[in-house]
Amino acid sequence: MSPALAFLGVSILGTWGLASIALIAGGIIMLFFPGDAQVDGDNVLGGLVLLIAGLGSMGAMVQVTMGPLLGMDPPLPVPAKKNVPASRLTRWVKAGLLRDFPDGTPKEIRLRSKRVLVIRQGDTASAMSALCSHARLPMAGLPGSPVKPIAVRDGCVTCPFHGAMFEAESGRVVRKPFDSAWNNAHPFLGRLQAPLFKLLSAPPAPKYLKPSMDAETMQTYPVRIENGEIEVGLPAGQGGLRHGRTPARGVPAARRRNPPLPA
Ligand code: FES
Repeated sequence: MSPALAFLGVSILGTWGLASIALIAGGIIMLFFPGDAQVDGDNVLGGLVLLIAGLGSMGAMVQVTMGPLLGMDPPLPVPAKKNVPASRLTRWVKAGLLRDFPDGTPKEIRLRSKRVLVIRQGDTASAMSALCSHARLPMAGLPGSPVKPIAVRDGCVTCPFHGAMFEAESGRVVRKPFDSAWNNAHPFLGRLQAPLFKLLSAPPAPKYLKPSMDAETMQTYPVRIENGEIEVGLPAGQGGLRHGRTPARGVPAARRRNPPLPA
Protein backbone atom coordinates (compact mmCIF):
# COMPACT_ATOMS: atom_id res chain seq x y z
CA MET A 1 0.00 0.00 0.00
CA SER A 2 1.32 3.43 -0.87
CA PRO A 3 2.11 5.83 2.03
CA ALA A 4 -0.36 8.38 0.60
CA LEU A 5 -3.18 5.85 0.63
CA ALA A 6 -2.29 4.74 4.16
CA PHE A 7 -2.25 8.38 5.29
CA LEU A 8 -5.65 8.96 3.73
CA GLY A 9 -7.08 5.86 5.42
CA VAL A 10 -5.70 6.82 8.83
CA SER A 11 -7.00 10.40 8.41
CA ILE A 12 -10.50 9.21 7.52
CA LEU A 13 -10.61 6.74 10.39
CA GLY A 14 -9.17 9.30 12.81
CA THR A 15 -11.79 11.89 11.83
CA TRP A 16 -14.52 9.28 12.02
CA GLY A 17 -13.35 8.15 15.46
CA LEU A 18 -13.09 11.70 16.81
CA ALA A 19 -16.54 12.60 15.45
CA SER A 20 -18.02 9.51 17.14
CA ILE A 21 -16.35 10.38 20.45
CA ALA A 22 -17.61 13.96 20.15
CA LEU A 23 -21.17 12.74 19.56
CA ILE A 24 -21.01 10.39 22.55
CA ALA A 25 -19.47 13.08 24.78
CA GLY A 26 -22.08 15.63 23.61
CA GLY A 27 -24.87 13.18 24.39
CA ILE A 28 -23.51 12.49 27.87
CA ILE A 29 -23.09 16.20 28.61
CA MET A 30 -26.63 17.03 27.46
CA LEU A 31 -28.08 14.17 29.48
CA PHE A 32 -26.17 14.50 32.72
CA PHE A 33 -24.67 18.02 32.80
CA PRO A 34 -27.30 20.21 31.14
CA GLY A 35 -25.97 23.34 32.86
CA ASP A 36 -29.31 23.85 34.52
CA ALA A 37 -30.67 22.19 37.62
CA GLN A 38 -33.82 21.42 35.67
CA VAL A 39 -33.21 18.92 32.85
CA ASP A 40 -35.88 19.70 30.32
CA GLY A 41 -37.34 17.31 27.74
CA ASP A 42 -35.41 18.80 24.82
CA ASN A 43 -32.08 18.15 26.51
CA VAL A 44 -32.98 14.55 27.24
CA LEU A 45 -34.15 13.90 23.69
CA GLY A 46 -31.16 15.68 22.14
CA GLY A 47 -28.76 13.86 24.45
CA LEU A 48 -30.27 10.49 23.59
CA VAL A 49 -30.09 11.18 19.87
CA LEU A 50 -26.43 12.21 20.11
CA LEU A 51 -25.56 9.23 22.29
CA ILE A 52 -27.24 6.71 19.98
CA ALA A 53 -25.71 8.33 16.89
CA GLY A 54 -22.25 8.30 18.51
CA LEU A 55 -22.50 4.68 19.65
CA GLY A 56 -23.82 3.61 16.25
CA SER A 57 -21.04 5.47 14.47
CA MET A 58 -18.37 4.05 16.79
CA GLY A 59 -19.79 0.53 16.37
CA ALA A 60 -19.76 0.87 12.59
CA MET A 61 -16.17 2.12 12.67
CA VAL A 62 -15.06 -0.79 14.81
CA GLN A 63 -16.80 -3.17 12.40
CA VAL A 64 -15.14 -1.57 9.39
CA THR A 65 -11.66 -1.65 10.93
CA MET A 66 -11.74 -4.78 13.09
CA GLY A 67 -14.00 -6.91 10.89
CA PRO A 68 -11.56 -7.42 8.03
CA LEU A 69 -8.65 -7.86 10.48
CA LEU A 70 -10.54 -10.65 12.25
CA GLY A 71 -11.75 -12.13 8.96
CA MET A 72 -15.36 -11.24 9.79
CA ASP A 73 -18.11 -10.44 7.32
CA PRO A 74 -20.37 -7.35 7.60
CA PRO A 75 -22.79 -7.95 10.50
CA LEU A 76 -25.91 -8.10 8.36
CA PRO A 77 -28.67 -10.69 8.73
CA VAL A 78 -28.82 -13.53 6.20
CA PRO A 79 -32.41 -13.87 4.99
CA ALA A 80 -33.72 -17.42 4.49
CA LYS A 81 -34.90 -16.51 0.99
CA LYS A 82 -31.24 -16.42 -0.05
CA ASN A 83 -30.76 -20.08 0.92
CA VAL A 84 -29.94 -22.35 -2.01
CA PRO A 85 -32.46 -25.23 -2.24
CA ALA A 86 -31.25 -28.83 -1.81
CA SER A 87 -32.09 -29.55 -5.46
CA ARG A 88 -29.20 -27.27 -6.49
CA LEU A 89 -26.65 -28.57 -3.99
CA THR A 90 -25.33 -31.26 -6.26
CA ARG A 91 -21.58 -30.65 -6.34
CA TRP A 92 -19.95 -33.04 -3.87
CA VAL A 93 -16.80 -31.64 -2.29
CA LYS A 94 -14.49 -33.58 0.02
CA ALA A 95 -14.37 -32.02 3.49
CA GLY A 96 -11.99 -34.36 5.34
CA LEU A 97 -12.08 -37.55 7.36
CA LEU A 98 -14.97 -37.91 9.76
CA ARG A 99 -12.64 -38.98 12.56
CA ASP A 100 -10.73 -35.68 12.27
CA PHE A 101 -13.82 -33.68 13.25
CA PRO A 102 -14.55 -33.28 16.97
CA ASP A 103 -17.55 -35.31 18.03
CA GLY A 104 -20.36 -33.02 19.21
CA THR A 105 -18.58 -29.71 18.59
CA PRO A 106 -19.16 -27.74 15.37
CA LYS A 107 -16.07 -27.00 13.31
CA GLU A 108 -15.69 -24.40 10.56
CA ILE A 109 -13.92 -25.27 7.33
CA ARG A 110 -13.51 -23.59 3.96
CA LEU A 111 -14.87 -25.43 0.94
CA ARG A 112 -14.43 -23.80 -2.46
CA SER A 113 -14.20 -20.43 -0.65
CA LYS A 114 -17.46 -21.10 1.25
CA ARG A 115 -17.42 -21.03 5.06
CA VAL A 116 -19.08 -24.27 6.08
CA LEU A 117 -19.83 -25.53 9.57
CA VAL A 118 -19.45 -29.28 9.87
CA ILE A 119 -21.33 -30.82 12.78
CA ARG A 120 -20.27 -34.34 13.64
CA GLN A 121 -22.49 -36.34 15.93
CA GLY A 122 -20.98 -39.79 16.36
CA ASP A 123 -20.95 -41.61 13.04
CA THR A 124 -23.09 -39.03 11.30
CA ALA A 125 -22.45 -35.48 10.19
CA SER A 126 -24.39 -32.50 8.91
CA ALA A 127 -23.33 -29.17 7.49
CA MET A 128 -24.64 -25.63 7.43
CA SER A 129 -23.36 -22.15 6.73
CA ALA A 130 -20.64 -21.16 9.18
CA LEU A 131 -22.11 -17.65 9.43
CA CYS A 132 -25.08 -17.11 11.69
CA SER A 133 -28.24 -15.84 10.01
CA HIS A 134 -28.72 -13.28 12.81
CA ALA A 135 -25.66 -11.10 12.26
CA ARG A 136 -23.35 -13.13 10.02
CA LEU A 137 -20.94 -13.87 12.87
CA PRO A 138 -19.01 -17.17 12.89
CA MET A 139 -20.98 -20.01 14.49
CA ALA A 140 -17.69 -21.63 15.51
CA GLY A 141 -16.60 -18.51 17.44
CA LEU A 142 -13.39 -16.60 16.98
CA PRO A 143 -10.17 -18.61 17.14
CA GLY A 144 -7.92 -17.52 20.00
CA SER A 145 -10.71 -15.59 21.72
CA PRO A 146 -13.03 -16.49 24.62
CA VAL A 147 -15.87 -16.89 22.08
CA LYS A 148 -15.59 -20.62 21.41
CA PRO A 149 -17.86 -23.08 19.59
CA ILE A 150 -20.64 -24.46 21.77
CA ALA A 151 -21.28 -28.21 22.04
CA VAL A 152 -24.26 -29.56 20.11
CA ARG A 153 -27.31 -30.12 22.32
CA ASP A 154 -30.39 -32.14 21.33
CA GLY A 155 -29.24 -32.05 17.71
CA CYS A 156 -29.04 -28.25 17.77
CA VAL A 157 -26.18 -25.84 17.21
CA THR A 158 -25.90 -22.65 19.30
CA CYS A 159 -24.35 -19.44 18.04
CA PRO A 160 -21.81 -18.33 20.64
CA PHE A 161 -22.43 -14.61 20.08
CA HIS A 162 -26.11 -14.03 20.90
CA GLY A 163 -27.35 -17.54 21.60
CA ALA A 164 -29.58 -18.28 18.58
CA MET A 165 -30.09 -22.05 18.23
CA PHE A 166 -30.58 -23.94 14.99
CA GLU A 167 -31.47 -27.54 14.23
CA ALA A 168 -28.31 -29.06 12.76
CA GLU A 169 -30.13 -31.12 10.10
CA SER A 170 -32.64 -28.55 8.85
CA GLY A 171 -31.17 -25.19 9.90
CA ARG A 172 -34.54 -24.33 11.47
CA VAL A 173 -34.46 -21.71 14.25
CA VAL A 174 -35.34 -23.30 17.58
CA ARG A 175 -34.31 -20.33 19.74
CA LYS A 176 -34.08 -16.66 18.82
CA PRO A 177 -31.03 -14.50 19.61
CA PHE A 178 -31.01 -12.93 23.09
CA ASP A 179 -33.34 -15.53 24.55
CA SER A 180 -33.58 -14.90 28.30
CA ALA A 181 -31.97 -18.30 29.06
CA TRP A 182 -28.94 -17.21 27.05
CA ASN A 183 -28.86 -13.69 28.50
CA ASN A 184 -28.92 -14.99 32.07
CA ALA A 185 -26.10 -17.41 31.41
CA HIS A 186 -23.89 -14.83 29.68
CA PRO A 187 -23.67 -11.53 31.56
CA PHE A 188 -21.65 -9.74 28.88
CA LEU A 189 -22.74 -11.33 25.62
CA GLY A 190 -26.37 -11.52 26.66
CA ARG A 191 -27.40 -9.28 29.50
CA LEU A 192 -25.37 -6.29 28.33
CA GLN A 193 -25.70 -6.69 24.60
CA ALA A 194 -29.45 -7.33 24.50
CA PRO A 195 -30.42 -3.91 25.94
CA LEU A 196 -27.85 -2.25 23.67
CA PHE A 197 -29.31 -3.97 20.58
CA LYS A 198 -32.80 -2.91 21.71
CA LEU A 199 -31.64 0.68 22.25
CA LEU A 200 -29.98 0.87 18.84
CA SER A 201 -33.03 -0.56 17.10
CA ALA A 202 -35.47 1.76 18.92
CA PRO A 203 -35.18 5.01 16.90
CA PRO A 204 -37.38 5.20 13.82
CA ALA A 205 -35.26 4.22 10.82
CA PRO A 206 -35.51 1.95 7.80
CA LYS A 207 -35.43 -1.73 8.82
CA TYR A 208 -32.13 -2.39 7.04
CA LEU A 209 -30.41 0.25 9.19
CA LYS A 210 -31.47 -1.29 12.48
CA PRO A 211 -29.68 -4.17 14.19
CA SER A 212 -31.84 -7.25 13.91
CA MET A 213 -33.06 -9.15 16.97
CA ASP A 214 -34.22 -12.05 14.81
CA ALA A 215 -32.69 -15.05 13.06
CA GLU A 216 -33.90 -17.00 10.05
CA THR A 217 -33.47 -20.57 8.85
CA MET A 218 -29.83 -21.29 8.09
CA GLN A 219 -28.47 -22.56 4.81
CA THR A 220 -27.79 -26.27 5.20
CA TYR A 221 -25.81 -28.54 2.90
CA PRO A 222 -26.32 -32.25 2.24
CA VAL A 223 -23.62 -34.52 3.63
CA ARG A 224 -22.57 -38.05 2.83
CA ILE A 225 -19.72 -40.18 4.04
CA GLU A 226 -17.68 -42.26 1.63
CA ASN A 227 -15.05 -44.56 3.14
CA GLY A 228 -14.90 -42.50 6.31
CA GLU A 229 -14.56 -39.22 4.43
CA ILE A 230 -17.13 -36.45 4.63
CA GLU A 231 -18.42 -35.00 1.39
CA VAL A 232 -20.57 -31.87 1.33
CA GLY A 233 -23.00 -30.91 -1.44
CA LEU A 234 -22.39 -27.35 -2.63
CA PRO A 235 -24.27 -25.33 -5.25
CA ALA A 236 -23.74 -26.68 -8.75
CA GLY A 237 -21.03 -24.73 -10.53
CA GLN A 238 -18.92 -24.23 -7.38
CA GLY A 239 -16.39 -26.91 -8.31
CA GLY A 240 -16.14 -30.32 -6.72
CA LEU A 241 -16.30 -34.01 -7.58
CA ARG A 242 -17.36 -34.37 -11.17
CA HIS A 243 -17.93 -38.10 -11.31
CA GLY A 244 -21.56 -39.20 -11.36
CA ARG A 245 -22.43 -39.92 -7.77
CA THR A 246 -25.82 -39.87 -6.13
CA PRO A 247 -27.11 -36.29 -6.06
CA ALA A 248 -28.68 -34.87 -2.91
CA ARG A 249 -31.86 -34.00 -4.76
CA GLY A 250 -34.98 -35.00 -2.85
CA VAL A 251 -33.16 -37.11 -0.28
CA PRO A 252 -34.85 -36.62 3.09
CA ALA A 253 -32.58 -35.66 5.99
CA ALA A 254 -33.22 -38.94 7.82
CA ARG A 255 -31.94 -40.95 4.84
CA ARG A 256 -28.87 -38.79 4.54
CA ARG A 257 -27.70 -40.14 7.89
CA ASN A 258 -24.52 -42.00 7.24
CA PRO A 259 -23.66 -45.64 7.78
CA PRO A 260 -21.30 -46.56 10.64
CA LEU A 261 -17.61 -46.23 9.95
CA PRO A 262 -15.72 -49.37 9.01
CA ALA A 263 -13.92 -50.73 12.09
S1 FES B 1 -24.69 -13.64 15.39
FE1 FES B 1 -25.52 -15.53 15.98
S2 FES B 1 -27.00 -15.09 17.40
FE2 FES B 1 -26.22 -13.19 16.81
